[in-house]
Amino acid sequence: MSEFAIETDNLNVYYGKNHVIKNMNLKIPKNTVFAIMGPSGCGKSTLLRSFNRLLDLNKIARVQGSVKLFGEEIYSNNTDPIVIRKDVGMVFQYPNPFPHLTIYDNIAIGLKMNKLVKNKNEMDSRIEWALKKAGLWDEVKDRLKDYPSNLSGGQKQRLVIARAIAMKPKVILLDEPTANIDPVGSKKIEDLIFELKKDYTVVLVTHTPAQAARVSDYVAFIYMGELVETGKTGDIFTSPKSKMTEKYLMGELI
Ligand SMILES: Nc1ncnc2c1ncn2[C@@H]1O[C@H](COP(=O)(O)OP(=O)(O)OP(=O)(O)O)[C@@H](O)[C@H]1O
Ligand SMILES: [Mg+2]
Repeated sequence: MSEFAIETDNLNVYYGKNHVIKNMNLKIPKNTVFAIMGPSGCGKSTLLRSFNRLLDLNKIARVQGSVKLFGEEIYSNNTDPIVIRKDVGMVFQYPNPFPHLTIYDNIAIGLKMNKLVKNKNEMDSRIEWALKKAGLWDEVKDRLKDYPSNLSGGQKQRLVIARAIAMKPKVILLDEPTANIDPVGSKKIEDLIFELKKDYTVVLVTHTPAQAARVSDYVAFIYMGELVETGKTGDIFTSPKSKMTEKYLMGELI
């Protein structure tokens, strides 16, 4: 098996004629936090969506090139995108728990649909396990029948992370998970990201270099759909090779 969780080879993504990801070659090592950073509109979310074939659902999106998941091509004809999406979980830029489902059912629904648990006991214990992993159990254990609208932004985001973890994916994609969360809530999520890499590979899109510096092992800096620089977080932050990366880290490119 490959030492990389995700490997892209000459990956290109288009929305209609708009060429959004350009000849991207990335290697994301297993059991690390890999941060993707870059200015708004540079293609971070699009890149993330190419990692679990979510772009298949967008009629105007076109993907060329290769994405390998643990050495296996995910864009081959005999790959089932549903299986890929189970192995590669995604947490979106805005916390999106299902508003009409209880906290419990928000997690249960994916497990039911994918027939991942056999009975109520197993369901209960998997939900408890996922909420504990997401650092939310103590805050919600007495209100599992409550609705997510009564949770804070940070709690909603941790609920969505629990929903992703419950499926036992191999990779978790987090798209700016703290973008709309207060500092205390953000700190909890950053601590959680750090914990998650023990069991999973975490790909984190972030708009703040400081967050990448705090939680990631590797970073990639993207500008207008192109990979400018990638490497160990410490190396990139202390001695970026590219002037563009340096400018971005100094807050001069937004
Ligand atoms: N569904 C879509 N249809 C058409 N164009 C899109 C779609 N999604 C994104 N784009 C375009 O693709 C480019 C990259 O967008 P993307 O959302 O990947 O950037 P981003 O780096 O995640 O930005 P942000 O930091 O603001 O979230 C932008 O020019 C955007 O307008
Ligand atoms: Mg985005």
